[in-house]
Amino acid sequence: MARQFVGLDLGTAHTRIWTPEGGVILRSPSAAAIDSESHRIVALGADARRMLGKTPAGILAFRPIKDGVVSDFEVTSLMLEAFFTEKQIRSTFRRPSVVMATPYRITEVEQLAAENAVLEAGARAVGQIPAIYAAAAGAGLRVLSPRGCMIVNIGAGTTEAAVISAGGIISAKSVKMAGERFDTTLINYLRSNGELLVGDATAEELKIRVGAALSGIRRESARAYGRHARTGMGASLTVTSDDVFRAVHPAVDAIARIILATLENVPPEISADVHSYGFMLCGGSACLPGIDGALAQATGLRVTMAREPMDCVIRGLGKIIRDNRLWGEGLNLRTRSLF
Ligand SMILES: Nc1ncnc2c1ncn2[C@@H]1O[C@H](COP(=O)(O)OP(=O)(O)OP(=O)(O)O)[C@@H](O)[C@H]1O
Ligand SMILES: [Mg+2]
Repeated sequence: MARQFVGLDLGTAHTRIWTPEGGVILRSPSAAAIDSESHRIVALGADARRMLGKTPAGILAFRPIKDGVVSDFEVTSLMLEAFFTEKQIRSTFRRPSVVMATPYRITEVEQLAAENAVLEAGARAVGQIPAIYAAAAGAGLRVLSPRGCMIVNIGAGTTEAAVISAGGIISAKSVKMAGERFDTTLINYLRSNGELLVGDATAEELKIRVGAALSGIRRESARAYGRHARTGMGASLTVTSDDVFRAVHPAVDAIARIILATLENVPPEISADVHSYGFMLCGGSACLPGIDGALAQATGLRVTMAREPMDCVIRGLGKIIRDNRLWGEGLNLRTRSLF
């Protein structure tokens, strides 16, 4: 590849950037706070995320990516421009060429929105690779081997599963059910079982602190603070790992069904490979204790946890940028350029 590319994983919860010189140089919440008059960024990443739902008049905090796709074009491009500038991969004299990871089978309109947001943020050129293919490469699967392998990425907004062989995607599924769905199910559980209303951030914090995807995994319990569903007064409740398990297990089961559906209609030899070796699990929600065991139980497949599961997509983009051969067949990068 003549041009030096920069890798971009624009996720629902996190944005990650890879450069040839620095490796993974950015891991930041996908969030920005904007001054509503000047349309300038006043806070970025973790700072902006903390401001969600708490901004003073005149400032708006956003998470511009929903379910893995651009939902607010202007904020996405402002946020990316700020990340590019902060990390010095864009300046008056420097415009990056970007390879971005995108969900499998996003619509053409969503694809164009993602590309345009990156170009608007100051990129010279942009191309896309299916995030799930990059995840497989980043997780260390031998994507070029004719032996079939399977990767599952459970992020914040999307779960994707793919069977890969000889550098191509044989079968893949992408659904809008992942970590944020676990948070919502916990919110509903606490409302129905404890008459406690909690917000998204509290639910996510509880899930990360005490959550489990299998029953019997004992972690500490935590006090959840919110509002009483009937009286509206401040209230609190002790939440245990088993509470989180009971809340999230229908969603985990649904993810298991998606994984099995990805294997339907796969040629028999490749299906046999996956049945022998199982699948590799990655993404931030792979960090939920017991999720590997729960998915192994529900699918009957062996589950291997990827190393640094949150970085598989971005590291995979880096590997692919470094080594052209990993492109494989059918992944021709169609690069759109400003010029
Ligand atoms: N220890 C943990 N236990 C459970 N869930 C976790 C843990 N750590 C992170 N998560 C969840 O992982 C998700 C973020 O994962 P990740 O960064 O892979 O998502 P993303 O790439 O931004 O989203 P997507 O790929 O869906 O667009 C969040 O929902 C977060 O709550
Ligand atoms: Mg992701």
